[in-house]
Amino acid sequence: MKLTSEEQKMLDGDYGKSVQKSMQILTSLGDIYGAEKMIPVKSVHMPGSSIVVAGEAATSFVEQMGDNDTQFAAFTTLNTGAMDMDQPRELGFSEETISRQHRLTGAYERMGGIACHTCTPYLIGHCPKFGEHVAWGESSAIAFVNSVLGARTNREGGPAALAAAIAGRVPAYGYHLDENRRGQFLIQVDASLSDIADYGALGYWVGTRVESGVPVFTGIPGDVSTDQLKSLGAALASSGAVALFHIVGVTPEAPTLESAFGGNTPQETWTFGESEKHAAYGQLSKQQGQPVSLVAMGCPHSSLNEIIKVAEMVRGKKVRAAFWMLCAQPIKHLARRSGHARILEDAGITLVCDTCPVLGAMAEPMDKIGMTAMATNSAKLAHYAPGQWKIPTYYGTTEQCVNAALKGVF
Ligand code: F3S
Repeated sequence: MKLTSEEQKMLDGDYGKSVQKSMQILTSLGDIYGAEKMIPVKSVHMPGSSIVVAGEAATSFVEQMGDNDTQFAAFTTLNTGAMDMDQPRELGFSEETISRQHRLTGAYERMGGIACHTCTPYLIGHCPKFGEHVAWGESSAIAFVNSVLGARTNREGGPAALAAAIAGRVPAYGYHLDENRRGQFLIQVDASLSDIADYGALGYWVGTRVESGVPVFTGIPGDVSTDQLKSLGAALASSGAVALFHIVGVTPEAPTLESAFGGNTPQETWTFGESEKHAAYGQLSKQQGQPVSLVAMGCPHSSLNEIIKVAEMVRGKKVRAAFWMLCAQPIKHLARRSGHARILEDAGITLVCDTCPVLGAMAEPMDKIGMTAMATNSAKLAHYAPGQWKIPTYYGTTEQCVNAALKGVF
């Protein structure tokens, strides 16, 4: 890989051990993937921000990289953590979790990381522009930033994202290059799509087929919402490993079908109709009969709009099941200002920030609830929760899940 003289100095150790180590990681990656050069990045979203995925060794590594006052060269936000940083004890997180998570978060913060602990940083101001090269982790955020915003990132793991934040660059390969951003599979959507769970079902069905390929969708209405797009991307990245998708007439690299494929011929074409939608719901919701003890929404973390919609559904009512609405702290703050947080709390719903049932130390609060079954409108959560927590899970629309919370059955 061709390095600039500045990059060579970084690799030679002229800027200290952490910068040198970062460049070693990045040049090794570049060599593996055949990158010809480095490209600067000003934006990093850090996976490995939860102690559930970053154990003792990873936490020590982050601390070591921060030795000698190392500072991030790129604006860096932290992904979802293991607990709600503001109410860990109230929610039942253990003292060990609290202390370990603070240790990891603090190590990132000392280098300049912003401890927003959310998987939807783009909803709270970390919003790269079209064509910008970035280094993001967290599969749902990667799909969103690549596809909806048109910025360019590979699927960065913890060490690579940390190295990119310190060095302010990444090797130029994969989704940074035009030729890897062209569509490969065509999906014709005939089913009617309304709730975010419909988009989750679509993403789930397509992800199992295209795996890590680039799907191109036709038939999705032009007024599809940001919330629906984040649900679609998260599901594509759960059943598959999709990091980039195009929607003709919607996403920025797909003004036309031809531009979405960029000269590629679709490797396969599928139609997603009502029967496929029904099948996807069935795959995600295998349970029948168990009472619902927990409803979880906000995977990826909720927008203010999603919170408002649920608040309007439960205004003046009381839920029977525990109900967590996951979101970023700034979104909760706005919900409090707008009065919707109060409506949710009066109904018995808890706004949980900084964490989620997949990256959180959730065995602790779940023990407190006494789990029987969970209901969710998130395909990602429905995909991971049964395996991770051995929880029977129902998958349904927002309205179905709210009703399940109100009645205690799905
Ligand atoms: Fe976010 Fe956790 Fe879901 S990180 S996308 S809420 S699994």
